[in-house]
Amino acid sequence: TRPLKVALLGCGVVGSEVTRIMTTHADDLAARIGAPVELAGIAVRRPGRVRDGVPAELVTTDATALVKRGDIDVVVEVIGGIEPARSLITTAFEHGASVVSANKALVAKEGAALHAAAQERGADLYYEAAVAGAIPLVRPLRESLAGDNINRVLGIVNGTTNFILDRMDTSGAGYSEALDEATALGYAEADPTADVEGFDAAAKAAILAGIAFHTRVTLDDVHREGITEVTAADIASAKRMGCTVKLLAICERAADGRSVTARVHPAMIPLTHPLASVREAYNAVFVEADAAGQLMFYGPGAGGSPTASAVLGDLVAACRNKLSGTAGPGESAYSRLPVSPMGQV
Ligand code: HSE
Repeated sequence: TRPLKVALLGCGVVGSEVTRIMTTHADDLAARIGAPVELAGIAVRRPGRVRDGVPAELVTTDATALVKRGDIDVVVEVIGGIEPARSLITTAFEHGASVVSANKALVAKEGAALHAAAQERGADLYYEAAVAGAIPLVRPLRESLAGDNINRVLGIVNGTTNFILDRMDTSGAGYSEALDEATALGYAEADPTADVEGFDAAAKAAILAGIAFHTRVTLDDVHREGITEVTAADIASAKRMGCTVKLLAICERAADGRSVTARVHPAMIPLTHPLASVREAYNAVFVEADAAGQLMFYGPGAGGSPTASAVLGDLVAACRNKLSGTAGPGESAYSRLPVSPMGQV
């Protein structure tokens, strides 16, 4: 069988781990896919910064030329951000490649357009790694639960803010003290705005709501409030009421079933609820469905290896589809329930 060719866009913490696993587990991956998988090129912005173990002969700074080569079966995008990721993914589809992306901002904003571009070419768009790192969520929601009726998705989908709120809860620390600790431990970025203001969680909420309710939800539809206003006094009073404070992504079907809402804000959770036990930088998503009942998905929501695990799973699926000439599950936005603003529910 001919080897499947993979182009990797981005080689930071996640990309270098994807490279490592593709290299060290090449035989296992080939057996599971049914054909060898070959890393054909790795596009980076700064080749001097590429980590040890990444094959230097595959590194290029010309990402566009790499996706235009014409012999690439699957493009793995771990660059993040809107551009150049959007253009590169679109070009990849135009050249017949399927795409595995870890890019929550892009999928939350442009998911519908990207799915349409993929479908036009019979290609796949997979993005398990865009929501909650290693935790299988996208595939369970859009495939395993596709025959059920999901009513609510409640998620702790940002590790940095969960770490900060957990520290405030356990040590009585104030917000800035806990943020400093999160930064020192490498959870929070130098600019933690996307995490603490809830943008990162809102992008994930948009993706989860879209796939849970088979509709289209974009980042702009999500009501968003971060954790910067949460004080030690808020946490202490929640405690007195037998609760803890978590930043939740809440995606709900309206009681009349005719619309959905998606919102991100700090919420008090009773200590008896399974989400209250999610500590440090872990993520968890609680799903309520008609037939399945209550489910909880729990695990590491960020980091090189956990995110690479999700990317590799998608890569195997995309490669299998390439071999069999089939396409993945697509957008599945058939219900098209409207997204109602907060307050109308
Ligand atoms: N900054 C994110 C988090 C990384 O803290 O969860 C994963 O998207």
